[in-house]
Amino acid sequence: PMPCDIYAAGGTPCVAAHSTTRALYSTYTGPLYQVTRGSDQAKANITPLAGGVANAASQDSFCAGTTCLISIIYDQSGRGNHLTQAPPGGFSGPDVNGYDNLASAIGAPVTLNGHKAYGVFVSPGTGYRNNAVNGTAIGDAAEGMYAVLDGSHYNGDCCFDYGNAETNNRDTGNGHMEAIYYGDNTVWGSGSGSGPWIMADLENGLFSGANPKNNPADPSISYRFVTAVVKGEPNKWAIRGANAASGSLSTYYNGVRPTVSGYNPMSKEGAIILGIGGDNSRGAQGTFYEGVMTSGYPSDSTENSVQANIVAAKYATTSLVSGPGLKVGSSVSFRATTACCTTRYLAHNTSAINTQVVSSSSSTALKKQASWTVRTGLGNNACFSFESVDTPGSYIRHYNFQLVLNANDGSKQFHEDATFCPQAGLNGQGNSIRSWSYPTRYFRHYSNVLYAASNGGVETFDAQTSFNDDVSWVVGAGFA
Ligand code: AHR
Ligand code: AHR
Ligand code: AHR
Repeated sequence: PMPCDIYAAGGTPCVAAHSTTRALYSTYTGPLYQVTRGSDQAKANITPLAGGVANAASQDSFCAGTTCLISIIYDQSGRGNHLTQAPPGGFSGPDVNGYDNLASAIGAPVTLNGHKAYGVFVSPGTGYRNNAVNGTAIGDAAEGMYAVLDGSHYNGDCCFDYGNAETNNRDTGNGHMEAIYYGDNTVWGSGSGSGPWIMADLENGLFSGANPKNNPADPSISYRFVTAVVKGEPNKWAIRGANAASGSLSTYYNGVRPTVSGYNPMSKEGAIILGIGGDNSRGAQGTFYEGVMTSGYPSDSTENSVQANIVAAKYATTSLVSGPGLKVGSSVSFRATTACCTTRYLAHNTSAINTQVVSSSSSTALKKQASWTVRTGLGNNACFSFESVDTPGSYIRHYNFQLVLNANDGSKQFHEDATFCPQAGLNGQGNSIRSWSYPTRYFRHYSNVLYAASNGGVETFDAQTSFNDDVSWVVGAGFA
């Protein structure tokens, strides 16, 4: 039996079941998610293979030579509680009309029992929601939730959530949410250590226990694959967590509602959010692989069986890169492949990054400005960072989606902004250099200036015209 079969047997059936990686019922053969591709906006549903794991190969062939976004995460429960691009609310998103961004379809590759699948990589600004829900908990009604997340992808901004939220995208008061939170935000609650923590977003607070601030019983938890559980019923709730790749769930809190007013009774509204706060706060990041919401308060033993099923699914990491390989420690150059610009190379001029015409007869200074030392990715060691040959200690990073050369300040933000995952070039030449932290975005020259650009979007440099060529670079030997 799969997770939702287990919850049903326990008398607490799934009322929403979301996963881009696998079927959550043993009999589910419908679509897991929909992708929309950049080249022509065509859409395709990705379904499970026999055995239940997503048919990632069908995505790879549909998206070959272009980009793809995850446009729908289907509800497998039969209730139609699908997740789509989140609309604006208390806060606006970065996309057209204040919507949040959709996730890249390739930001979070994994394997399940050796079969490739893709999770939902949520960058700041990305979010999914459903306000027209069927069957989720309302008011003080009981519910349970779990999610499988990437314990190496989080931040301290509000709020990487999955679960129950307001139906109007706004903060309607204490107790109007009940969602799993994952990250190291300390504005409200926190646990022991420096995080990240599993907490419950109950609106106007992330709770790690009955005390609205610190509860040391809630541990920092950062396994590569994390199982996070939150459940609630009248004046009772719990937080549980585990390594999603082995072992069993531990209970981090089990007791009464928080000791501040507005949370007993709860005023749940029943909408479903992923990657954002209840009021569409959209500064957070994280990765979601699978999760459900139930009707009724699941027993610990039901959840323990779900955890055993998750472990048996054997989540594991896989390569984040493709195309011609890069060698750590080597000096490289990046030659543009757009017809306008095939003698131009990625170079810096103090902190600005642009393309310049460089050849063997260029000055030594320019040759060095166009040469980059390949380093292990500062933010993820499965990808790369690029250190300036003439300015050691300074790396290419994105800032406001411009590429700039900055000294490594040692911060997690810098490390992540300076980490890139090369893939086979979108136009068939060389490599396209994808941002680790914003996998919809690639090294792109536009008017000979370098950006982290997406294939269509609100910025001028996101223009779809010439995108594949502008993001494809021949990585050759460095000039110096
Ligand atoms: O409870 C934390 C956050 O506070 C909620 O997600 C959001 O709606 C509000 O800003
Ligand atoms: O480039 C996008 C973001 O802009 C970076 O992640 C951040 O450092 C800056 O605010
Ligand atoms: O960077 C040169 C050109 O500027 C790009 O090819 C084009 O997209 C933009 O107009």
